[in-house]
Amino acid sequence: MKKTSFNKLKAEDQALLRAAQAAMERAYNPYSQYFVGSALLTPDGQTVTGSNFENASYSVTICSERSAIVRASAMGHNVFKKIAVLGRGAKSPSKDVVSPCGVCRQMLFESSQISGAPLEVIMCSSDMKKVVIATIDELLPLGFGPASLGVNIKRFRR
Ligand code: THU
Repeated sequence: MKKTSFNKLKAEDQALLRAAQAAMERAYNPYSQYFVGSALLTPDGQTVTGSNFENASYSVTICSERSAIVRASAMGHNVFKKIAVLGRGAKSPSKDVVSPCGVCRQMLFESSQISGAPLEVIMCSSDMKKVVIATIDELLPLGFGPASLGVNIKRFRR
């Protein structure tokens, strides 16, 4: 786990966070008014974004991280180098980084297993200052995954 700042990031990571920031502003969030955006980077340099999409039946809500993963899969990508995430409340930018919820950590763990390398998670405050970088293994130690079920998911890589 590394604490840093937006200005110290390499251009690739700054661009990924900018993409997540744009997606964050497109959140569908009538119930929480909480905005979250994510951006996945594929090994060939493509960016796929997601934002949270809420539902009047609250538990049906999908988080930005999972919407990005599902969207990427439908576009033909399930191998990722990293994901950038940020979020803010109703009105003003936040000084604090947003870290993925438990359900999203589980889904990111699956993506990391498909990818065959520890997925990097870049978490940023929506004022674009503070950054924390961790691997999914740090965020979800001893994760339950394909190996737990004896499944070799390499052949599902796209
Ligand atoms: N949310 C995300 O999109 N990602 C997370 O990791 C945490 C929570 C969304 C879900 C809901 O729309 C809102 O934030 C408040 O929980």
